[in-house]
Amino acid sequence: MREGSPENFELRWRSRFERFGRSYDSDALIAGWSASGLAARLRAFETLFDGAQQGEWLDVGCGAGTYVRALLGRGVERVYGLDYSVPSLEKAKAMTSGDAAVWLAGDARRLPFRAATFAGVLCFGVTQALADCEALVNELVRVTRPEGEIWIDGLNRGCALHAGEVLMQRLRQQPLRVRYENAEGLRQLLLTAGCVNARIDWVPIFPRKLQRLQAVSDWMQLGKMPGIGRVMSHAFLIHARKGPAPASP
Ligand SMILES: C[S@@+](CC[C@H](N)C(=O)[O-])C[C@H]1O[C@@H](n2cnc3c(N)ncnc32)[C@H](O)[C@@H]1O
Repeated sequence: MREGSPENFELRWRSRFERFGRSYDSDALIAGWSASGLAARLRAFETLFDGAQQGEWLDVGCGAGTYVRALLGRGVERVYGLDYSVPSLEKAKAMTSGDAAVWLAGDARRLPFRAATFAGVLCFGVTQALADCEALVNELVRVTRPEGEIWIDGLNRGCALHAGEVLMQRLRQQPLRVRYENAEGLRQLLLTAGCVNARIDWVPIFPRKLQRLQAVSDWMQLGKMPGIGRVMSHAFLIHARKGPAPASP
């Protein structure tokens, strides 16, 4: 397998996540985020999330279960957390009380569920560790029931800082550590797979040392500023709705 091949990129991430799951006890570190980064992401989701649809939910790439617990805290009765890292799932289980969460080992691109099972599906922090997202998006949409919702995020390829980093890595002929995602391209994949109303929100995330800037950016709602949000935001979040069931003939 070539050093910079897509398979190698994905395998390296998988073994990194398994190591994080074995080595750490905080949900941020198990996911590979900083504590402030995870807090900013969770805040962005909770600000946009306006109440869960009735029914079961699925969190794909759940890591230590941060969003599973967030959904349970919002009144969802049952949430399935799926991840390919078994050590992370073990930590998730230990961190979650009650029996409303179900933990499953599996691959995000081959979900072990029937079509149209879930009222809502989340997939956060996964796209950057995959060589491409088409199979993932098709699976997320497949297992969502008609008119159900899908939430997915990515590291923003349009961020000025990331564009500079990609250019430097190309010039130095270094392999990419993470894959930055074209938000509009991901939105189009969701629409092609059967979603409607897919909406992008930009999520500015500042490093731990610049938390004052994070507070200012949250207060100013930097991510919502036309033109600025896209180039200043480290990440983005897409909220999509699956289309209605086809009418019977
Ligand atoms: C960056 S962490 C994010 C964890 C959590 N969703 C969050 O946002 O805090 C990505 C998680 O996705 C899992 N993951 C990545 N690719 C996956 C795949 N193809 N199938 C299943 N899980 C995957 C990793 O093991 C890891 O736990």
